[in-house]
This record gives sequence, structure tokens and C-alpha cells, in this order.
Amino acid sequence: MKLSTLLSITGLFLCAPVFAQQRSAKPIPHLEKRGLVTQLIVDGKPYLILGGELHNSNTSSLEYLRPIMAKVAAMHFNTVLGAVNWDLLEPQEGKFDFTLVDGLIKQSRENKMKLVILWFGSWKNGMSHYAPEWVKKDEVRFPRVKMSNGKSTETLNVFAAENLKADATAFAALMKHIKAVDSKERTVIMIQVENEVGIHGDNRDRSDVANTNFAKQVPAELMAGLQKYQTELQPEFKQAWEKAGSKTSGTWEDVFGKGPFGDEVFMAWHYAKYVNAVTAAGKAEYNIPMYVNAWISPVYPRGGPVAYMHDIWRIGAPKIDIFSPDIYQPDFKGIIPLFHHNWNPLFIPECAADSAGASNAYYAIGAHNAIGYSPFAIEERVADPVNGPIPRAYKILEGFAPVILDAQSKGTITAVTITRANPIQTITMGGYTIELRTRHKKMGYERSVPNSSYGIIINSAPDEFIFSGVNLEATFAPVAPGPQMAGIASLWEGIYENGKWKPGRRLNGDNISQSYAMTEQTNRNQTGTVLRFENPGPGILKVKLYKFD
Ligand code: DGJ
Repeated sequence: MKLSTLLSITGLFLCAPVFAQQRSAKPIPHLEKRGLVTQLIVDGKPYLILGGELHNSNTSSLEYLRPIMAKVAAMHFNTVLGAVNWDLLEPQEGKFDFTLVDGLIKQSRENKMKLVILWFGSWKNGMSHYAPEWVKKDEVRFPRVKMSNGKSTETLNVFAAENLKADATAFAALMKHIKAVDSKERTVIMIQVENEVGIHGDNRDRSDVANTNFAKQVPAELMAGLQKYQTELQPEFKQAWEKAGSKTSGTWEDVFGKGPFGDEVFMAWHYAKYVNAVTAAGKAEYNIPMYVNAWISPVYPRGGPVAYMHDIWRIGAPKIDIFSPDIYQPDFKGIIPLFHHNWNPLFIPECAADSAGASNAYYAIGAHNAIGYSPFAIEERVADPVNGPIPRAYKILEGFAPVILDAQSKGTITAVTITRANPIQTITMGGYTIELRTRHKKMGYERSVPNSSYGIIINSAPDEFIFSGVNLEATFAPVAPGPQMAGIASLWEGIYENGKWKPGRRLNGDNISQSYAMTEQTNRNQTGTVLRFENPGPGILKVKLYKFD
């Protein structure tokens, strides 16, 4: 449906916008390929989201929100993720109240943070709790998901044109309003469309309309897409499709098999199409980056953008810019490659705000070129707002971000996390082999803290590296052929402010010596010197090396 048609039925607005219409001043936020990676461009420059998501209900009262936003800004978050709820935005059909949206934007600006708005529309965690009362009460016009026992749920049905029309209308009105009030400041930089969609308690919807659709032929559009992406299909998807016989036409059961896989593909396709249509309506008003988030724990709602449904979502929802994982599981390193494809930049909108949070941020940004990172419920779950790992890390990353983003685009950045299972890690970069381990025990490192040794490494120039890390030690050796030894020519600690290096101490003497057992050291092509992070961190060290025989 065309947006103008959608809006013509929206009627009057409840409240006049509190912001005057603004003429565009800053460039619109967008995604752009820069060098080797796709980056988020905000205010005309690459931007790293050092984000945090507010807990679900806290944006529904501006008074409640006020101290929270100040607290979050003080913790060095440069971006806040906060919900706009459909029921509060459109309490009566066609009558919109933008008070909360305006307040959220205003408070973000007052606290010098950018804002990612989460559209809690038809679905939040797969449920429809945020639908307005006029939707909830009209089950005939706004049909629901049914379970196999024939019982209706509160969850809106993805096959219903009226559900989609109502959601898309509201979302388009929201985006039109954001454009009107934010085209000058560009506080709102990205939108999450819906939240963790999918079916709970079964593999698919069992309503009559779902059953009718399930008996239909798989759309040619989907089959053509699978053909187009055949060389890059997700391995798990490919395997399941092959197991079902790799058919290229027929009903959903014919092509994808009878059972959970076929059911899930069917739901994923219809969620993708629905979310795509909502997104298209919003983008037609104001075209800023939009993403969806996936619930990925073992029991997840079926049909959402989990990794092995990415092919289906990619074909069904081309208006969506990013498929993002909400990561609460310990295997962070195993999960993020599943959401980082050359066509899908990595953005993590939800994750644990615990002690592993900062090391995961470093890893995602340094090893997977993440455009941003965002622990969940930061106002409640960041235990120590001053000395906690996330505030400390974000404080350092804030000024370092331009350097990081430049290195991402050039492919001169990586990251390590030292774990007990993997206590020594070796990377090869810029003609050197760099061995990284946990800082030596005598320096007081707490071995019981998981993921507490981590770092980002940038090869900033020939023979020069920038490290930002916590509890790390690094030693160097040249890559063969050529001289066998690498010494520290100079080592500085410092910080970056707005991407500009501000040196602190020149480190030497005890700060770089590791061993005087020179026979042993030289046997291993080592000099007995080390780059070491001595403070609770993270800090930044810039080292220049030289090679000799
Ligand atoms: C994931 C959801 O997206 C969040 O809104 C929240 O419900 C968390 N799960 C659980 O606290």
C-alpha cells in the first residue's frame, strides 16, 4: 500500500508536535561502504554506537526517564536505545500522541546522546502486548495466532492485511513525525522495527488463514531468491533444505519438508514480508537505517531472523538493513560470525551488561567490525556506573572511535579475548607475530574473573601498533624471512580525544621488562621486553617496534 493512502486514513493528531518543522542541516544517517566494511554514517562521519538499551517500560514516563538518561550519559554511552510503544503512540485509531517520542528525543539531546528508537508495534518478544486497546479488543478485524488446540492467543496474526495496515500506518506516522522534528539535529540515527518476532509454543500459526496459506505454493519470489543466493546460503539452512529433497517448487511441505523446518521457513517468510512492509511504509517517510533483532536462545520464537533463516529474511525483507542478534548466551564469539556477513554489518542491540560485556564489545568491534554494541537494561544492570567494565571501556572507546573506524575500513584492526581455555593467543599483523596472554600474575591479575583480559590491536603504520586492552601482555617477533628479533623502539601510554592522540607517560624500564634470562629469551627469539597493561584498564598504548638479528 502506498504511504499516502495509509496516511489519508490516519485522521487528526492528538498533540501538535512540540518541535517546529526543521530544515535539514546535518546529513541523514545512513549505512555506507567504506573501504572493506559497511559503516554507519552519522552527522556525515563514520559512527561507532557505544550504546545501551533502556529497560522496556522506562520510556513510558518522561519523569521516570529523566534521571535515568542523566545516569546513562554519565556512564559514557554515546547512544541510547529506547522504545516507542504503539499503544501509547496511537491510543485511539488515527489519533497520535507524540509527547513521549518528543520527550525521548529531547532528553537524548539534553544528555548529548544519539537515539535508536525501538518500534514496539505488532510484536515485542513475539507477543502483541504493545498493540493498542482498540486493536486488542477487535479480534475480528485484527485476527490472532491460534494454537493447535484451536485456542486463540493475544498475538497478532502475520497473515492479516488489517493488522499490517494498522501497524504500517502507525509506524509511517512515527517516521513522518521524526523527520519533522529531527531533520536538523539528527538525534535519531536508527530504528529497530518490531522486537524479536516469532511464534511461541509451536512451529507455526495454526489459524485457518495460516493453514490456507500453508497449503499454497511457495512463492516464486522466494524460490528465485534462493536460486540467486545459492552459493552463499546459510549452511544449516542449506543442509535442512537438502534433507527435505532440495525441491524448487511445490507447497511449503513439498519444498521444505513436513515438520519443524518447513513450518519455520513458512513463518519466517511471512514475518519477513510483514516486517518489510511496515519498514517500507516508515522508510517512505524518513529513510534512516532500520534493523530487526532476533531472539536466539535454544527455545526461540519460530519465524524470527535467527541465523539459519537469514536467507529467507534477506529475500523477504530487503528494506531491512541489518539482522541483529540479542546475545545472552556465553558463546558470544561463536554467535557473532553467524550474524556478520559481507551483506550484513554487525550490530548487537542486546546483550548482558555483566563483566563479560566490555570484553565482548571489544571483540565485536575489533574482530568483527561491529557498527555498534548495546547491553540491555543498562540503567539497572550496570552494577558500577563509574568503575564498571562497560563505563570504563566506553570512556576510552569514545575518543578512540575515529581511529577504530578508520582501521575497520582498512582492515588493520583485530581483537583478542583471553580465556582459560585459550590462555595464549597469537596473531599475525603488519609483518609481526604478536603473542598475547593475561598480564603476569605478580602484577595482581585476578584469574577468577572470566573474560577479564582482552584488547583491540590496530596496525597503525609500518612497525607501529596501537593497543587498547585490559590485563594483557604482548610480545613480538618478526614474521620470517628477515631479521629474527623485534625490540620496542618506543612505548607511550595515552588516550584519544576526538580521534587525536594525547600521549601520557613514555613507558620504559620496569614497565617493559619481563625477563632477564637472556639465553632462554634469545633462544625463543625474544628480547625479554613486553607491552603490558598495568592499570585496571582499559588503557591505550602506542608501540613502535624495530627489527634486528
Ligand atoms: C529480549 C527482549 O528483546 C527485551 O525487550 C527483554 O524482554 C529481554 N529479552 C529480557 O529481559
